[in-house]
Amino acid sequence: MREILKTENLWKIYPDGTKALRGVDFVLRKGEFVGIMGPSGSGKSTLLHLAGGLDKPTEGEVYLLGRPLSTMNEDELAEFRKRRVAYIFQFYYLLEDFTVLENLLLIAELSGIENAEEKARRILDFLRLSHRLNHRPSQLSGGEQQRVAIGRALITEPAVVFADEPTGNIDWEEGRKIFDLFRRLNEEEGISFVVATHNPDLRSYFHRIVHLRDGKVV
Ligand SMILES: Nc1ncnc2c1ncn2[C@@H]1O[C@H](COP(=O)(O)OP(=O)(O)OP(=O)(O)O)[C@@H](O)[C@H]1O
Ligand SMILES: [Mg+2]
Repeated sequence: MREILKTENLWKIYPDGTKALRGVDFVLRKGEFVGIMGPSGSGKSTLLHLAGGLDKPTEGEVYLLGRPLSTMNEDELAEFRKRRVAYIFQFYYLLEDFTVLENLLLIAELSGIENAEEKARRILDFLRLSHRLNHRPSQLSGGEQQRVAIGRALITEPAVVFADEPTGNIDWEEGRKIFDLFRRLNEEEGISFVVATHNPDLRSYFHRIVHLRDGKVV
């Protein structure tokens, strides 16, 4: 299978001296659904940030389709972050002054997506949010807000979705529904997923699990 993303000897030492990652090698192939598990502080979020180009490693390299991110200029990196990868976080970071539909359209506009409104409506329909298009985020349940955040990630048609504790703030039933959605997107659209979670009950969704401990793969 084709390698989409690879990290090689990835180190992250934060300015205060914390060694969050200590030589992580990680490979993501097309169509994979990978879990990142490990105790709090083991480096899961740090790994997602570096692999997604949100932060830079202290040492080591991240490759996208064989290309080192360190050789990309700012424009290329911005393009990578806008169009190739998407992020879903534990806290949804939706824009409160905008409606559900507008939250997707704003990202679409920033990313230069064509036929944005049609796509946004289709995605929101898929996410069972058609009846909430003109609501504000604060008028939605936690699960609904997380589905909007997923919609915002999908509107850019990413090859890889990074999700950091995406069900950390919602109840078990809603959490399962979110994971069922991820699985459908993985199987039907071929989108690869890298999901950090504490929740051992979600293990069965993953094709493969990478266990981190003290910044290392174990
Ligand atoms: N900006 C930062 N500056 C200094 N240290 C940091 C920073 N961000 C994270 N760390 C430290 O790096 C280590 C790894 O943090 P990280 O957030 O990657 O862990 P995690 O596995 O995602 O934990 P959790 O399960 O609690 O989300 C921890 O010791 C954390 O305190
Ligand atoms: Mg984390």
